[in-house]
Amino acid sequence: MKKIGVMTSGGDAPGMNAAIRAVVRYGIYLGMEVYGIEKGYVGLLDDKIFQLNMRSVSDIIHRGGTILKTARCPEFKEVQGQERAIANIKKRGLEGIIVIGGDGSFMGAKILSERGIPTIGIPGTIDNDLPYTDFTIGFDTACNTALDAINKIRDTMTSHERISIIEVMGRHCGDIALYAGIAGGAEMILVPEKPFTIESVCENLINNYDEGKKSCIIVLAEGAGRAEVLAKEISARTKFEVKATVLGHIQRGGGPSMVDRILATRCGVRAVQLLSKGIGNRVVGIKDNEIIDLDIVEALSLKRKFNEELYHIAEIVSL
Ligand code: ADP
Ligand code: F6P
Repeated sequence: MKKIGVMTSGGDAPGMNAAIRAVVRYGIYLGMEVYGIEKGYVGLLDDKIFQLNMRSVSDIIHRGGTILKTARCPEFKEVQGQERAIANIKKRGLEGIIVIGGDGSFMGAKILSERGIPTIGIPGTIDNDLPYTDFTIGFDTACNTALDAINKIRDTMTSHERISIIEVMGRHCGDIALYAGIAGGAEMILVPEKPFTIESVCENLINNYDEGKKSCIIVLAEGAGRAEVLAKEISARTKFEVKATVLGHIQRGGGPSMVDRILATRCGVRAVQLLSKGIGNRVVGIKDNEIIDLDIVEALSLKRKFNEELYHIAEIVSL
């Protein structure tokens, strides 16, 4: 392939720019023309496609967000929208497309593949909810941002002997809560993968108090409940003073960590290598620190496994 397109789609994630940079520079290094598609599938539908050169991606490796912009595009879920997108891809002569995004964006990539456009998916989402890869681009940075907030909240909670519930993102996935919670020494980590009752949470807090823990940090994944609601329920059932913090979009911004920059760069290079060999319809990721690629249909059919071992460790070391 000599002419390829790259886009970012769905929720942005720190490290997307580093992936775009790798795609553009490695593509040009291999003699390709690389085109940026603006705002994900919206840009395909609206023909917002422009050529990128080596300098288009200067000074972006350290920036959060995405220079290509991103969007959610419901029209692409309809056949009419897909046909418009494919007509634009053909008009522009793009021979392959690289989609940087999460599972929703990969559903779109699968459709492009099925309709004869060789497409490669790069996992860009803070949620870490793609089953075929150990980590997604943006997850490490989001966890570090959450961790920084947990550390700060811990200082004031300890001083006042309060309970703090910190709600983190992740959609239906508890990984941000699990990793940031363990790293931040949280007393409790509440995730959608591990159902809990308000009674068990209160019992735990009382036991902790009796054991000498006068303040507690509870990290709550958004998929497992709302911090405000939980805070009210605990206050109503116990004598503790409970504060709720929703971290929100701060977790999606900021310069990517070293881990995310390296992952993004490695994934970007592998994606271009595949297209340069005429291979499409695959997703790239990381397993045991090796960059992997596998069939997009297979990747999307896998079921996510929650890290039970890590969760168990968290329970023990937070006692
Ligand atoms: P993410 O990629 O972060 O999971 P979304 O789930 O919002 O984000 O998906 C991003 C975009 O991918 C959607 O707005 C839509 O354009 C496209 N998409 C999602 N699901 C499908 C689908 N089933 N068929 C076609 N396109 C889809
Ligand atoms: O998928 C990334 C994510 O940040 C989720 O963690 C969160 O549930 C969602 O996107 C928020 O979406 P929006 O930015 O549209 O509010």
